[in-house]
Amino acid sequence: PITTPADLNNVQGDVVIGFSKRFESAVFFQIDNADAFRKQLAALVPKITTAAQAASDKDKIKEHKRNGGKDLLKISGLNISFSQTGLTALGITDDLGDGPFRDGQLKGAEALGDSGSTVNGVFQPNWVPAFKNPIHGVIIVSGDSHATVEERLLDTKNTLKLSPQGGTCHEIIRLNGAVRPDDQKGHEHFGFLDGISNPAVKDIDTTPFPGQETVAQGIVLLGREKDTPPRPSWALDGSFLAFRYLFQLVPEFNDFLRQNAIPGLSPEDGAEFLGARLVGRWKSGAPLDLTPLKDDPELGKDPQRNNNFRYDFPEDIQTQDRCPFAAHVRKTNPRFDLEGVPPEKGGPFSTENRRIVRRGIPFGPEVTPQEKQSKTTTQERGLLFRCYQSNIANGFQFIQESWANATGFPPFKPADQVPGFDPIIGQVNSGTRSMTGANPNAATASLQLPTEWVVSKGGEYFFSPSLPALKTTFAK
Ligand code: HEM
Repeated sequence: PITTPADLNNVQGDVVIGFSKRFESAVFFQIDNADAFRKQLAALVPKITTAAQAASDKDKIKEHKRNGGKDLLKISGLNISFSQTGLTALGITDDLGDGPFRDGQLKGAEALGDSGSTVNGVFQPNWVPAFKNPIHGVIIVSGDSHATVEERLLDTKNTLKLSPQGGTCHEIIRLNGAVRPDDQKGHEHFGFLDGISNPAVKDIDTTPFPGQETVAQGIVLLGREKDTPPRPSWALDGSFLAFRYLFQLVPEFNDFLRQNAIPGLSPEDGAEFLGARLVGRWKSGAPLDLTPLKDDPELGKDPQRNNNFRYDFPEDIQTQDRCPFAAHVRKTNPRFDLEGVPPEKGGPFSTENRRIVRRGIPFGPEVTPQEKQSKTTTQERGLLFRCYQSNIANGFQFIQESWANATGFPPFKPADQVPGFDPIIGQVNSGTRSMTGANPNAATASLQLPTEWVVSKGGEYFFSPSLPALKTTFAK
């Protein structure tokens, strides 16, 4: 691996830095003719948003706000990534050295715990048909407005000659995401502020917030410091993208919170508290570990404080008083639960190679009065989840399978308090789920959870090449 830092002009902007966005579309495509596609791609490459451009966009927005600018600045981003079947369609035969990527996500759906059924001995996840057929690549277009996204996407489609008739390439499915309205801006559909915690990347995010862990560049970028497997030289500064099409059953989730409200409070407060215990943060984003008994909205929105915690209050590592072991944010980033394991138990364990860069956006409408009343989802909504890492087996796949779905994780906890499933994303094909610690006053009690609130309807693994690789290895 190369230990010098990456040049931000060479990295796609969604991978590090990230796009500033209100709206976003993901267009999944298939290549019809490799030669024709490579030629069109040569024209698209100069239009791809680099990390350097994404950083400059962020600076422009800050400057605009400082100057009292009210309207949103017109900003948009464009990135492109390819699946293993896409590489094969292009005749790129080098092995990128990542098992889950090579196999594709459909093959891994059963192990991820997606719901489905076995037909003629073959597991079939309950995915939408589009994701059960080969997808060669994905174009991600983001922007400040719906119109900006449409404009950029139209230009992209024209450049690539992407058309329904095919010839060069054609669309398989388009998914549209949007930031939620008004005071729900930045919140996912269950109502919790999202996008608070991401690792800082060394020499790129040089002023991390208090508590924000800095990871080596090779945790995100191939070929850089701490990226391990052998890679083709052109893979340098690329990254693997795990995409998941996740539906959320919001009225059902809210009904469960009401039915199982933590006792000793008003029904509303008991439901609110249970929700916070499932996520590990209050809806405002305030971490339970810092404010275990009541929400603190000022803390929730303060980046100087809202990541500055580890599960290392005296005794924290052994109790669920402040935060359940299985809470979503504790399962997916067990700050100190592994680093704090004493040598006599084989610790301390580093979690640096488990960190992922998350870039999701919600999709679908707000809950309708009818859905609220019937406590039943009728409109499709959820999260277009995506994350970047240099190694899918260490990152997304490990977090889902070996942490969220693993009832014994985090390990070395009191024997009468087996953590259970991550109540938000933990899944088990078709089995039942439970967790302990939901009620801080009865930590050993097991709470029975519905089979799923987050339903996986598809996904794929992609590779986001560097700009040099796009120019030399992909385009012609
Ligand atoms: C954090 C919700 C899916 C991994 C969070 C947070 C929320 C949330 C509210 C706290 C905000 C933050 O720290 O940024 C959801 C919902 C999901 C979902 C509603 C599905 C619809 C996933 C998946 C994974 C994942 C599939 C990975 C397998 C993480 C990680 C964090 C996080 C790593 C940061 C934890 C930390 O550093 O403290 N999620 N999430 N999430 N989520 Fe999810």
